[in-house]
Amino acid sequence: MSEFIFDSGISRIFLGGSVTMVALMMVSSRINRAVMSVLVFAWACFIKPILGKAGSDKTLGQSQQQHALELFYGNQAHIYDSTRKLLLKGREECLQLAVSHLPQTKKGLVWVDIGGGTGKNIEMMNEILPLEKHFAAVYLVDLSSSLCAVARQRFAGKSWAKNVVVLEADACDFSIDHATADLITFSYSLLMIPTFNSVIDHALALLEKSAGVIACVDFGIQSLDTCVGRINTVGGLVNRNMPWFLRNFWRIWFEADKVFLDLARRNYLEYKFGTLKSFNTYNNMLGRIPYYVWVGCDKDRSRSLLHRINCLATESPYLAPSDETQRIEYNIPVSKGHEAVLSNIRKNLPFPSIYYQKNPWRVYFNEINPLYHQFRNQYIYAFTWEDPREDHEMLKFSSKDTVLAITSAGDNILAYACLPDPPSKIHAVDLNPCQNHLLELKLASFKSLSQDQIWKIFGEGKIQNFRQLLINQLSSEMSSNAFQYWMDKGEKALSPKGRGLYDTGSTRWALRLARAVFTFFGINSYIDELCSCTNLRDQIRVWETKVKPTLFNPFVATLLVGNPLFLWKALGVPANQAELIGDSVLKYVVDTLDPVVHRSLISTDNYFYYLCLKGKYARNNCPDYLTEKGFRNLTTKRADGTAPIDNIRLHTDTLNDVFSRLNQKSITIAIIMDHMDWFDPKKDDAKNEILAVKECLVPGGRVMLRSAAQYPWYIKTFEACGFKCKPHGIRHAGESIDRINMYASAWVCTKQDDPKAPKAQRRMSSLKI
Ligand SMILES: C[S@@+](CC[C@H](N)C(=O)[O-])C[C@H]1O[C@@H](n2cnc3c(N)ncnc32)[C@H](O)[C@@H]1O
Ligand SMILES: *[C@@H]1O[C@H](CO)[C@@H](O)[C@H](O)[C@H]1NC(C)=O
Repeated sequence: MSEFIFDSGISRIFLGGSVTMVALMMVSSRINRAVMSVLVFAWACFIKPILGKAGSDKTLGQSQQQHALELFYGNQAHIYDSTRKLLLKGREECLQLAVSHLPQTKKGLVWVDIGGGTGKNIEMMNEILPLEKHFAAVYLVDLSSSLCAVARQRFAGKSWAKNVVVLEADACDFSIDHATADLITFSYSLLMIPTFNSVIDHALALLEKSAGVIACVDFGIQSLDTCVGRINTVGGLVNRNMPWFLRNFWRIWFEADKVFLDLARRNYLEYKFGTLKSFNTYNNMLGRIPYYVWVGCDKDRSRSLLHRINCLATESPYLAPSDETQRIEYNIPVSKGHEAVLSNIRKNLPFPSIYYQKNPWRVYFNEINPLYHQFRNQYIYAFTWEDPREDHEMLKFSSKDTVLAITSAGDNILAYACLPDPPSKIHAVDLNPCQNHLLELKLASFKSLSQDQIWKIFGEGKIQNFRQLLINQLSSEMSSNAFQYWMDKGEKALSPKGRGLYDTGSTRWALRLARAVFTFFGINSYIDELCSCTNLRDQIRVWETKVKPTLFNPFVATLLVGNPLFLWKALGVPANQAELIGDSVLKYVVDTLDPVVHRSLISTDNYFYYLCLKGKYARNNCPDYLTEKGFRNLTTKRADGTAPIDNIRLHTDTLNDVFSRLNQKSITIAIIMDHMDWFDPKKDDAKNEILAVKECLVPGGRVMLRSAAQYPWYIKTFEACGFKCKPHGIRHAGESIDRINMYASAWVCTKQDDPKAPKAQRRMSSLKI
């Protein structure tokens, strides 16, 4: 333990896998140079330190660190870039992510790359954001003189590098010719710097307060247990909890060579700055080494942040007072987001990551809520299985409405926002965080992509370079939590080689089942025919003579179509609801499908079944929000300066929880879908929810619901609680009530002014986070 042998842990991986490495490099045409590189690398990292021991003094200072760095980098500086390409992954993505979060319009940026080494990052940046055009100055700070020499050589005589300054200095003690920096980056440098606290403090002092961005890409280990108490600040837990073995293995492995993968560095970043985005992943090239990319900003970023917090206190549906004394005095429920902010302020923690995001769509939620576990980090619905045209028919939405609806896949939320006179506010509620991640992806796409790109992702379900789009364009429009989800799952599903968006979620089983049955019975061509009929007569003929006899033959009927395990489980229908369907599932299915075929053309007017049969939408047969007109409606700003998509809020909670914290009498329409079918008629759940929704409805406010029963049992409960209920449609055999026709009834229950009706107990929340 006598000298600083930076990177030699890394070298062991190289040697351990040297056979693979050499083989890899042989593939390249520059065999000799590559082999030489590996040999020089091995010499510098492995052999030389053993031969020549230096700096065995226990009290190493800066000059010793510099000396040690030289010892290590001195004779491998020239091969540095070629040997680090595979090892130091995520550097480019880190720069891209940071750039996405810089203010778009600002010119003359100042960037400091701390521990910048050979200047490779700066060259990479020139490809992302041309330096000459966008930067007034770029500083590379590094303590190794031989790496600085390589950097100087790289920049010499290059016109794009005119503004680049190489500073040979210690990261905790350097100064630049500008008062502040708009961008500060660390790429694989914090892990080598023993005085990282002081380096981070120095960076904090330098970072521009209102819009500056700081970014870090580094190896690093972490676990859930070590972020308890500050989870809302870290921006998402995807891949954050590493297996015990990996965690300790890599830390010990690297630490022997004084390369530190400990938690302290990232923790300190997350403590000193607000987290804009982060993601956690592994470098699998060399044996699953954990690394992360993190992008942050000043903790107290801007006035607008305070404004948003105050909004929480006054304007949001989550009515909450602006300070605690008030809360106690008036006994009003407080939003969870507000509680969390107050608690973080008391602990001197940054605000929850959600507060640093540009868009206010996502209402605060805490990812460790145990209720989320049941969803196993997946959404159920990749598309919404309710007909919004009928909703509008029933409810006649207008800008006088404030609507609360279940998110599901977000299709209906966007359908309402697309209307000529859309509701002034729409609250989308879903307990499953991933359903809201899906809607966030849609919202972010409307902010930053073209209509054509939106069509590719959500119409066809596939797009080239999703990961690049996500990092470069979508990331700054979404929460870190949603970003992490899509970093983890997006590319695999959405790439042209992937299975497509509609083969995700549990609803994929319905689509897969349909495909399997069609293939098994060889009726794929009939299905295509059914999906391209141009008049109802043809459609009915194809259905009656070709498709139906096959689907409803006794074998398929009992095994597949009529088997609750297959069909209903695939569509996410739980037991209580299955009860409502009645004895014969097969009859239910016939009652569903037969009338649909008689109702309208699947090829142009039934995107629901079209999607199920074809796995994607068609340009002339898709939800309104995927059309060009829909795009315009959603994104065009109105007189008040907001576009309809700006007035959507996403709540990740139970309906009951949202109702009980909502501003009293703020909602005109609540759309709860078939959700009440899920309740047990013997328990009080339905009654509690009905009383809760009643509290936040305006007088005359309406609840719209669908059910698998013609006369659901809880309609009586609504009536007992002071609602007047009217069926909008009750499905009788042979008839359809909407284009999906899967539910047996749709109801509108209107709140009556009846002082004698029972009232809900409004729940007070505690400040426990
Ligand atoms: C693994 S290299 C990464 C270099 C470069 N950022 C990259 O991504 O290729 C770590 C760098 O940190 C530098 N470094 C280590 N301690 C330092 C200190 N106290 N001050 C400045 N730079 C330091 C090293 O000289 C080295 O260039
Ligand atoms: C968009 O707005 C226009 C005009 O207000 C309206 O006619 C149309 O139905 C709306 N929706 C779509 C999807 O076009």
